Amino acid sequence: AGTGRFVVGGNWKCNGNTASIQKLVQDLNAGEITADVEVICAPPMIYLPRVQSTLDRKYQLSAQNCWVGEGGAFTGEVAAEMLADNNIPWVILGHSERRALLGESDEFIGQKVAYAISKGLSVMACIGETLEERERGDTLNVCRRQLQAIVNCISPADWAKVVIAYEPVWAIGTGKVATPVEAQETHAGIRKYMAEAVSPAVASAVRIQYGGSVNAGNCEELARCEDIDGFLVGGASLDGAAFVTICNSA
Ligand code: G3P
Repeated sequence: AGTGRFVVGGNWKCNGNTASIQKLVQDLNAGEITADVEVICAPPMIYLPRVQSTLDRKYQLSAQNCWVGEGGAFTGEVAAEMLADNNIPWVILGHSERRALLGESDEFIGQKVAYAISKGLSVMACIGETLEERERGDTLNVCRRQLQAIVNCISPADWAKVVIAYEPVWAIGTGKVATPVEAQETHAGIRKYMAEAVSPAVASAVRIQYGGSVNAGNCEELARCEDIDGFLVGGASLDGAAFVTICNSA
């Protein structure tokens, strides 16, 4: 792991119902976090208040998305102000599912990150290449392009409020995890880019999570990589015991 405090996010995505989420919260509350780790759970928006009132304070909360600017006539959206007003400190932005399925562009995501930060939120900003891009040798080009759009919208000081989540699209929900060598290589490349595009200080301080088929069995080896500062976990975050194991791999 890197120098910053290890940070693990659980992205529940669009999963669960009242009963399953109640069970998950119970399992998480019963779990013992023994490592020095910051843990952030991201339930579906409609369950956030319920989870907030029942989840142990050892876990922080995140939304999975928010609107790009001030609220108003934007049917179906939730504004960053509303998250802040509800004491939700984090938001996940730029997830590949939203990029691919909802057409969110690099620029749009950069603007969202800037707006969320301006309202006091912290952001897990997701980047990552598709299989096709990796096979073309474009992994770092894609990560750089996606990060550049954020760099263009925020100040160097704002990076203190951002965690970068590197999630190779081919590893998300596929059971095909990046090898520690592959992940480390890309994380190091991302850090190098941040040194050039922002500053060496920001590059060494920014935390970079790995996401994509992280589970209780593969987390330890990944956590040992020099530039892996945490995880963003999808499927395995729906299993309280597995998620706690992943958090404790810090
Ligand atoms: O944001 C987390 C993510 O996309 C990884 O999902 O299910 O491969 O852990 P999963």
